[in-house]
Amino acid sequence: MRKSSQQSLRLVVTSLAAGWLTACGGGVHSAVNPVGPQAANIAKIWWLMFYVCTAVFVIVLSVLAVVLIKRSKNKPTDDVPELELPEESKKRRTNVVLASVISTVVILFIFLIYSFVIGRGLTSELAQKNGVVIELTGHQWWWEVRYDNVDASSIFTTANEIHIPVGVPVTLSLKAGDVIHSFWVPNLHGKKDLIPGKVSTIWIQADQPGVFRGQCAEYCGLQHAHMALWVIAEPREQFDSWLQSQTQEAAVPSTDSTKRGQQIFLSSACVMCHTVSGTPAGSNIGPNLTHVASRQTIAAGTLENTHDHLARWVNNSQRIKPGNHMPTMSFSDNDLQPLVDYLQTLK
Ligand code: CUA
Repeated sequence: MRKSSQQSLRLVVTSLAAGWLTACGGGVHSAVNPVGPQAANIAKIWWLMFYVCTAVFVIVLSVLAVVLIKRSKNKPTDDVPELELPEESKKRRTNVVLASVISTVVILFIFLIYSFVIGRGLTSELAQKNGVVIELTGHQWWWEVRYDNVDASSIFTTANEIHIPVGVPVTLSLKAGDVIHSFWVPNLHGKKDLIPGKVSTIWIQADQPGVFRGQCAEYCGLQHAHMALWVIAEPREQFDSWLQSQTQEAAVPSTDSTKRGQQIFLSSACVMCHTVSGTPAGSNIGPNLTHVASRQTIAAGTLENTHDHLARWVNNSQRIKPGNHMPTMSFSDNDLQPLVDYLQTLK
């Protein structure tokens, strides 16, 4: 009995410490570190609920403590229990029931009104403003990102990384390529589902530069946990130059190794699924590789984008992310090195 109560105490202390640490980390994947108006509104609801529930908890426990202390002080000296008059007991019970009902209704009503007001703000605030429009499609298990500019020649597609300009509203239209996924970048907004056959819309805005982590938040199969994305919020000039570089055709290989790498790429099964603009590779089953080397991670945020990781991923992605739709390629080392050299030129 004593051991189990010690264990429970340890569990409570650890949970509180973990909660405290995650809440105050100021992290890149945190709902209580908002960097945009949408997430800030959601954080307001969270803090209101936190303070009200903490107050209720403290009040209830304090009343309980007072009653217990009073009772132990008023203990009768003989063994005969002190009997309360039925009238007094009834009155006390009515008071407790009334206080519980009234306070619960009032508190829930405050929460209801507040969440209604915040909810309206989330959908209307940024919707009226013109900004950047991005189409985001969830696939098992990666994110297809398409920048829908007014100028048709500058539409381009990338994967698992969204660049946005700071202080500008961004409209994301969300689609699902196969099953239900959910877009969730806690520093910028709450969750929004991507549903097959339906287009849903969400607005985000980052008020300061930074790199924020997003995660698929709806179970979508074996590699659901490895379906992350990064949102890179940057000043307008930086964003514009990124936009400019992404609309360019892929780099043309210049060295012997990268030229050979391109030949290997174009003569292998890679072209069945991937696009590299300016080459015959033009399939949209897998991520667009035109500027793959400019991305910070590969495999939907699973690995840092390095030569070694690319080589491991290309040859045996099943080992890193079992069940993903890329087959095992098994290139010889002589072919793999130039192929990866080529991929690394695609900046
Ligand atoms: Cu996509 Cu979970």
